Amino acid sequence: MMDYSQFETTAAIPEASAMIQTFRAIGYSVEAAIADIIDNSISAGAKKIWVDYDWKGPLTTISIVDDGKGMNNDELINAMRPGSKNPLDVREEKDLGRFGLGLKTASFSQCKKFSVISKDQTGGVSWWCWDLDYVRQVKSWTLLRYYPDAKFLQQIAKVLTGTAVIWWDIDRLTKDSQEDDADSMDNFMKKMDGVKKHLSMVFHRFISRGVKIYFKGREVEPWDPFMIGIGGLQPKSDVYLDDRQIFLKGYVLPHRSKLSPEQYDYGKGPKDSWTAHQGFYVYRNQRLLVAGDWLGIGSFKKEVHYDLCRILIELPNNADAEWQIDIKKSLARPPARLLEQILSAARNARSQAVEVYRHRGKVIRRQFSRDEDQFLWQEYRRNEKRFYKLNRVHPIIKQLLENSSPYRSEIEKALRFIEETIPIPLITLKENEAEITHGQPFEGTNHELILATMKAMYRNLINQNKTDDQAKGIILSIEPFNFYPQYVEYLNANDDNK
Ligand SMILES: Nc1ncnc2c1ncn2[C@@H]1O[C@H](COP(=O)(O)OP(=O)(O)O)[C@@H](O)[C@H]1O
Ligand SMILES: [Mg+2]
Repeated sequence: MMDYSQFETTAAIPEASAMIQTFRAIGYSVEAAIADIIDNSISAGAKKIWVDYDWKGPLTTISIVDDGKGMNNDELINAMRPGSKNPLDVREEKDLGRFGLGLKTASFSQCKKFSVISKDQTGGVSWWCWDLDYVRQVKSWTLLRYYPDAKFLQQIAKVLTGTAVIWWDIDRLTKDSQEDDADSMDNFMKKMDGVKKHLSMVFHRFISRGVKIYFKGREVEPWDPFMIGIGGLQPKSDVYLDDRQIFLKGYVLPHRSKLSPEQYDYGKGPKDSWTAHQGFYVYRNQRLLVAGDWLGIGSFKKEVHYDLCRILIELPNNADAEWQIDIKKSLARPPARLLEQILSAARNARSQAVEVYRHRGKVIRRQFSRDEDQFLWQEYRRNEKRFYKLNRVHPIIKQLLENSSPYRSEIEKALRFIEETIPIPLITLKENEAEITHGQPFEGTNHELILATMKAMYRNLINQNKTDDQAKGIILSIEPFNFYPQYVEYLNANDDNK
């Protein structure tokens, strides 16, 4: 231990308004910011939470009121302090907080002024306000005893105990807006609609267990990413990691053909897309942190044929540092020592999800394909000997030859030379040695090329008045697309990019 007494010391107090500007740059979305405020309500035992807004252009307010245990004056002042708790402190098991910053960083990320009014079990009401303009003026960390409207005091009067957080001067959302400007209002309402959807997802487990969140007076319904209870859902087996501290479970959701249109839309979730919602769902104390993300592991990407795969991970609240949970509570990264186990469970769930699409593709192929499959190579006899040639009516070869002038004869020549020299003896020999197995077409490559080719072919067939199923059936009977029946999920008559 160093002997500090031998040194001279000086205070180096952070410049308050500069620090607050730093908070503002953390990069919360409005939905993540409001969720962070609600975390505090839930940690304080709230059973009811009211989220309200009052559109008034630049004078718009947003408030989050709860019936939690509330705070007395000293507790409130402490809560308003940036870094009110040490992130290394052991937290109560149900506590959703961590850095002692959320209230301040989430609020300042959206607004320049916010008040907190709180009533504890004695019935005493306290309130304090952070005002960035005032802090800049007095150049110190000084709270004002102020709230913007008496109606918030009335709201607190209605609960036995509880807390109201009121944001105003919400410059990030209402900048340059006019109260009577339809576009700015529309924009704001869309954002609020996004907030509501986000809350329905992030807090779905709390809502299902009786916590009520009212958004502009309307109860928020829970959105369950796993659609637990729905027919055709395939849960994978339970996986416990880290001494049973961490729970992991993959789910393969039912194929669209097994869902009603309403159920299919429900599955699209707040991000309005099945593809956006595939991946891991990381919960910490029942609170969803990350919703539909492959967490940057295993070079997994969001690809349509994994749409049905969603994987639950439940963390305790003492794993934050190791999982790199950020201040905004919207990121998580598994620690290296757990990676192998997580990867193996994920690969398993992912391949089962693909299998659902492969099966669907095969069914379409059986029902709607032409009589014969279109292979790229054909066997034939010449002078009592076996040879192979390229199938000139296979769509890829046919198109090449049709579009090849003025090089047609050159290309014909190259094809002939390829055909005459395929290294069959070598292939046979290698196949028998069987040290390493032969890969299937396009295995281990970027599949953009075959996807793009399938899509172009599909469009052609649709233009030739084939039905959706017929077009898919034909494509799946053409080599090498027959290896990838799951990719028919990318083909959609109404959407070229799907
Ligand atoms: N709605 C609330 N009800 C009761 N206490 C609250 C409320 N919001 C904040 N607090 C208190 O303020 C503290 C600081 O909150 P915050 O800045 O979000 O950090 P953290 O949640 O990481 O502790 C909380 O730990 C809690 O004690
Ligand atoms: Mg908090």
